[in-house]
Amino acid sequence: MLPGRKIYIETYGCQMNFSDSEIVGSLVLGSGYETTTDPGEADVVFINTCSIRDHAEQRVRQRLREFRALKKKHPGMIIGVLGCMAERLKDELLEQEPSVDMIIGPDAYRDIPALISAVGSGQKAVNVMLSLEETYADIQPVRLGSNGVSAFISIMRGCENYCAYCVVPFTRGKERSRDPDSIIREAGDLVQKGYREVTLLGQNVNSYAWNENGRTMNFAQLIARVAGIDPQLRLRFATSHPKDLSDELIGVIASTPNICRAIHLPVQSGSNRILHLMNRKYTREEYMNRIRAIREKIPDSSISTDIITGFCGETEEDHLETLSLMQWVSFDYAFMFNYSERPGTLAAKKLRDDVPDVVKSRRLEEVIHLQQKLSHESNKKDIGKVCEVLAEGRSRKSEHQLSGRNSQNKVVVFPAGDIHPGEYIRVKITRCTPATLIGEVSPE
Ligand code: SAH
Ligand code: SF4
Ligand code: F3S
Repeated sequence: MLPGRKIYIETYGCQMNFSDSEIVGSLVLGSGYETTTDPGEADVVFINTCSIRDHAEQRVRQRLREFRALKKKHPGMIIGVLGCMAERLKDELLEQEPSVDMIIGPDAYRDIPALISAVGSGQKAVNVMLSLEETYADIQPVRLGSNGVSAFISIMRGCENYCAYCVVPFTRGKERSRDPDSIIREAGDLVQKGYREVTLLGQNVNSYAWNENGRTMNFAQLIARVAGIDPQLRLRFATSHPKDLSDELIGVIASTPNICRAIHLPVQSGSNRILHLMNRKYTREEYMNRIRAIREKIPDSSISTDIITGFCGETEEDHLETLSLMQWVSFDYAFMFNYSERPGTLAAKKLRDDVPDVVKSRRLEEVIHLQQKLSHESNKKDIGKVCEVLAEGRSRKSEHQLSGRNSQNKVVVFPAGDIHPGEYIRVKITRCTPATLIGEVSPE
């Protein structure tokens, strides 16, 4: 049997996984396949997976059951599992999910064309080798499902922080930085194609470090270089670890208008005891110092965060400390999660997952409730202000409205008029919800 020609890729998890799917897309196009957005007509179905919480894995399992039904209708269809679940479960997944033909870890994507051929000749194929060097620097990603305005560029891979709860160091391997010239080239190419916003991606962009033949570059220097390509190109980045968000980077953001005023700084918990158990390597006070530095140098920056509730040993007092820190910072936005124990992590090996589910969920609700209030307050402060918005596309609610984001990464909805996606416009904010700013095009 010959391998099929059409490949469908579905992606779960973080932005880095979406960026990886674009690399996979490029690799399969390069070997003569086409991508399709309809799994029903695909010869090869790839699911790029996430292991960050049990719930993320359960969603993928459900989707695999649906693909199995599809495969019954289309015998010969190849199903491949990519990404973090592939890396975590390896060939175990072949036993658990008989419809799966291929298991490919995040550093093995170059092997995909060869693996498809192997499956085409009747074998199951697995490659979950992690690499110390792979950054896919030379691969030009195909922009899957892109709005033609904003794109991601992956600047590093892996993570060695070993936060006690986190599976990423195990699924993504050692930290490595990508050649800055290839990053600058990719950004320049996006500008040529009309893109107006680039997000530089890594698990911990602040530890970006390029060092070759005596040439060194850190993250602050890299983002300054990319921002210098074109003042009309907006730069964002994710994610920063609080332990190494440098004053140098804060200074570069402050002095570079096209680096967005939005810093995502995951805090996880407001309690020093829990931060220590989480192996986060900073204290509440050190985190607060970083916030003070941002507020002083970039007063108009928004600050967002990630929070985990119900980590091992978390008491009511620890939880209250998280709430009080949220109040103190007054986060503009937050991603909030119940702690989910991941096999193989430091916490799974050394600590007891002892906060009952009902307590975790109640604490999560309190955290979400507070954040909604903070987000709403933050948005209300913008009413009456004029901000610059990059138009991205039609608003979800109305044909006649466009949606875009301001520098602070807040979603702004405004009348479409004859404005096109990719244009910068000044919008005066007139109303808001906790999640969205609503405004009118401003003559100012
Ligand atoms: N590298 C990034 C984020 C990686 S994962 C960083 O360090 O900030 C995104 C978020 O998922 C984390 O910030 C954390 O809040 C959450 N998360 C990670 N592992 C988790 C787990 N086991 N249970 C619940 N939430 C988790
Ligand atoms: Fe996970 Fe921590 Fe690495 Fe982020 S920094 S990916 S939370 S280990
Ligand atoms: Fe998930 Fe892997 Fe990203 S575990 S969050 S897809 S790095």
